[in-house]
Amino acid sequence: MTKKSILITGSTSGIGLAGAENLARKGWRVLLHARNPEADFVLVTGDLTDLNQVVALADRVKKLVPALDVLWNNAGLMVTDPRTSADGFELQWAVNHLALFLLTSKLLPLVQAAAQGRIIQTSSFAHHIGQVPLPGGFALPTKQYNGWTTYGSTKLANILFTQELAQRLSSTKVTVHAFHPGYVKTSFGANGDPTKGNSGSFLAFAQISVEAGADTGVFLATAEEPGRSSGLYWSSRKVRKGSGKLTADNARRLWELTEKALEGK
Ligand SMILES: NC(=O)c1ccc[n+]([C@@H]2O[C@H](COP(=O)([O-])OP(=O)(O)OC[C@H]3O[C@@H](n4cnc5c(N)ncnc54)[C@H](OP(=O)(O)O)[C@@H]3O)[C@@H](O)[C@H]2O)c1
Repeated sequence: MTKKSILITGSTSGIGLAGAENLARKGWRVLLHARNPEADFVLVTGDLTDLNQVVALADRVKKLVPALDVLWNNAGLMVTDPRTSADGFELQWAVNHLALFLLTSKLLPLVQAAAQGRIIQTSSFAHHIGQVPLPGGFALPTKQYNGWTTYGSTKLANILFTQELAQRLSSTKVTVHAFHPGYVKTSFGANGDPTKGNSGSFLAFAQISVEAGADTGVFLATAEEPGRSSGLYWSSRKVRKGSGKLTADNARRLWELTEKALEGK
């Protein structure tokens, strides 16, 4: 039997790394992704804050495998201070949504070349605080930047993207899924400062292990049921309702706004 292949973005640590270890143990060919070319286990690198690097990353993957059974868009970041990406977008929108959208569109032919391809987004329960539509698009607002709401909005976008992509791929074999991993013990949000982010939180006692955080992602990549359903939001291996903002209209409008922002890429 030929090995199944998966690309997991953001697999240098946390949920992505735990998912990679789990699937490697199951005999999958795992393409790890990091932004830092110094990382010694890395096969594919690319800083997702830069859309040109996203395109280059996709090109590298295309040279490595003829088909991708799973693309797991896991890389993400949370910042509370206003920052801009290389392409002039607000940083969280750039990495958590625009890079994900662009990478997926570039790698879609590979996923379609698999026997039953799957595309998975690591979203979050934080999508409940997210806001759509986006009157200012993906640019950094000139005033009143709120990093937490912006993070929530990007995670809402992960699920809206999942819904719309599933709709657009409904006549194909490819299925699309989003999930909340739980509140996981990673360095998420720390940005290099161990007193900050998840690990420095006063709620750290409530965190689950990285292995438990990766569990639903691995389930969505490997179990039979997610091969039959598409466009849904999961956590703890179960389909969840999610926010009332997860409407078909919001999904379509976000898709159109994103295509416009990525024009020419
Ligand atoms: N931890 C939680 O409680 C929790 C809850 C809900 C959802 N999530 C989601 O889970 C996903 C994984 O987070 P985690 O908790 O496992 O945190 P993590 O350990 O910080 O992992 C984040 C991964 O994303 C990568 N990444 C971030 N910015 C990048 C960029 N510009 N270019 C390339 N890679 C980049 C990181 O690479 P570097 O090492 O190079 O920074 C790292 O591999 C995120 O999408 C997050 O939104 C986490």
